[in-house]
Amino acid sequence: MEFFETVKNRRSIRSFTCDEILENEIKQLIDAARLAPSAGNVQPWNFIIVKNNETKHKLAKAALDQSFIEEAPVVIVVLADLNRSKLRYGNRGVNLYCIQDTAAATQNILLAAVALGLGACWVGAFQEDMVKIILKIPEDFKPVAIIPIGKPAGKVNMPQKRPIEEIIHYETFVK
Ligand SMILES: Cc1cc2nc3c(=O)[nH]c(=O)nc-3n(C[C@H](O)[C@H](O)[C@H](O)COP(=O)(O)O)c2cc1C
Repeated sequence: MEFFETVKNRRSIRSFTCDEILENEIKQLIDAARLAPSAGNVQPWNFIIVKNNETKHKLAKAALDQSFIEEAPVVIVVLADLNRSKLRYGNRGVNLYCIQDTAAATQNILLAAVALGLGACWVGAFQEDMVKIILKIPEDFKPVAIIPIGKPAGKVNMPQKRPIEEIIHYETFVK
C-alpha cells in the first residue's frame, strides 16, 4: 500500500472479527515499532504481547471498562523504559523524550497494522498502576499505550479532521 494511502486509511478500529493474528504479523508490527525515531537513538521501548483472554479482560477493566480491548485477538502494551531515557537525558528524558519516542513507535504499529490489512486503536485512558500489576511491569517502566489489534469487523468513516488552513502558520505563529 502506498504511504499516503496507508495514512489516510488508518482509523481507530474498535470492533474486530474472530480471526487470529499470525506470529509473523506480530513480528512485523514490532519491527515497524523498533524502527521509529528516538531521542539520541536511545530506543526506550518495550512491548508486551497479550493474547490470554483473562489478561485481556483485566486490561479492559483497567482501561475504564473499554470492552473492545478484550475482543481483539492481540493486544500490544507499549512501555517506556524511564531509566534508559534518564541515563542519557535526565528529567527531559523521563518527562518528554521517552513519551515522544514511544508515541512514535505506537504510531508505527498503527500504520503497519493498516499495511497488513489489520485494524487497531491507540488506547491511552487506563489506570497505569493496575496495568503494571496485571502485566508484572517493573517500577521503572511506564505503560504508555494499549493497542488492541485484529481484523476490522467493519468500515469506519474518517472523523472530522481540522483543515490545513486552520493549523498551518508560515514563519511566525502570529502575523
Ligand atoms: C494519546 C491517545 C489516546 C487515546 N485514547 C483512546 C482511548 O482510551 N480509547 C479510545 O477508544 N480511543 C482512544 N484514542 C483514539 C482517538 O479517539 C482517535 O484517534 C480519534 O478519535 C481520531 O480518530 P482516528 O484515529 O480514526 O483518526 C486515543 C488516541 C490517542 C492518540
